[in-house]
Amino acid sequence: MRVLVTGGAGYIGSVVTEELLRDGHQVTVYDNLTRGHREAVASEAQFVQADLTDAQTLRDTLSHHQIDAVVHMAADSLVGESVFHPARYYQNNLVAGLTLLDAMLATEVRQIVFSSTAATYGQPEQQPIQESAPNNPTNPYGASKLAFEHALRWYDSAYGLRYASLRYFNAAGASAKFGEHHDPESHLIPITLQAAAGKREYVEIYGADYDTADGTCIRDYVHVIDLARAHILALEVLKEESRIYNLGCGGAGYSVLDVVESARRITGKVIPAKVGPRRPGDPAVLIASSEKIKRELGWNPALQDLDLIIESAWRWMLDHPNGYITERRFS
Ligand code: UFG
Repeated sequence: MRVLVTGGAGYIGSVVTEELLRDGHQVTVYDNLTRGHREAVASEAQFVQADLTDAQTLRDTLSHHQIDAVVHMAADSLVGESVFHPARYYQNNLVAGLTLLDAMLATEVRQIVFSSTAATYGQPEQQPIQESAPNNPTNPYGASKLAFEHALRWYDSAYGLRYASLRYFNAAGASAKFGEHHDPESHLIPITLQAAAGKREYVEIYGADYDTADGTCIRDYVHVIDLARAHILALEVLKEESRIYNLGCGGAGYSVLDVVESARRITGKVIPAKVGPRRPGDPAVLIASSEKIKRELGWNPALQDLDLIIESAWRWMLDHPNGYITERRFS
C-alpha cells in the first residue's frame, strides 16, 4: 500500500513508518516538525514538511503520492498541558484532523488508522478496560481525541470513510534506530533512564499513597514495536469495516516502583527516587483488555516484558546520548 503517516517524525510515528517499510509498503511522512524530528524519519520514506491545516498541500500530497490509506498520528499528547491549553488541543487534535478528513474525501482516500488513547476512558471503575467501557475523559487531551473518534464514526456512515481507532495505553521502548525524545520529557521511562545516565538527579515518584499494592500508580506499558505492528494489522482489514481497539499488554500492569526497579536492574546504575505529591489527573490504575484485537486480528505483542522494554529504551539512549538534538543543530 501507499501510506501517508501524519506525525511520522514523532516517537511512535517513526517506528510505525519503519515497520511499514519493513513490510514493503511505500510511506510518505507528513509532519510540521514542531515536535517531531527530521532525523526520526526513515531514509526510505518520502518526507513532506507541512502543517495539517494546509489543506492544499494535504490534497496535493494525497493525490501526487497516490495514497491508499492514512495513518494519522500527528497530535499534541501531553495531558497536563492540555488542561492549561485546551484551545491548542482542540485546534491541533480536532480541527486539524478534520482538515485531513476533508482532504481525504476530496481525493477519494477512504481508509484511516487513527492514534487514539486510553485517555478517552478517564478513570474507569473496571479493570482491565474493555473497548465497551464508558468514555469519560478527564482532560482536554482525551476529550479532543474522543471528539475526533466521533467525527470518524459519522464520516464512516455518511461518506464510507473506513477507520480503525487504536487506543494506546503507555507506549514505551525503542527500536534499534528510533526512540523517544520529547522536549521537555514528561514520561516515566525516559525520565528514569535520564536519572540513570546522570542527566537528572533523581526520579520524582508522583504519589505513593494510591490504593495499589505499593502505593504508586499502575500502568500498562506496551513496546512501541508491538504497537506499530498493530497499525499494519489494522490497515490490512480496513476495507471491511471500521473498528476500535485497545492496545496494551494487559496482565497486572507495572507500578511506578516496578519501572524504577527494572531500570536499576537493566542499567546497573544507582537511580535515586524521591516520593513527591500526586500529579493532578492521574488515575491510580490503567490496564487494557486487548483481547479484541488479539482475537480479531491476531495481534501478538511479543515484546511485552518490562525489562525488555526498558532495555531497548536504554540501548537507544546510550546510542543517542543527546536524542535527536545533535543532528538537528546541523540540519
Ligand atoms: N510518573 C512519575 N514520575 C515522573 C513521570 C511519571 O511518577 O516523573 C508516573 C505518573 O504519575 C504515572 C506513570 O508514572 O503514574 C506513567 O506516567 P507517564 O507520564 O509516563 O504516562 P501517563 O500514564 O501519564 O500517560 C500515558 C500517555 C498519554 C495518555 C495516557 C492515558 O503518555 O499520552 O497514558 O492515560 F494520555
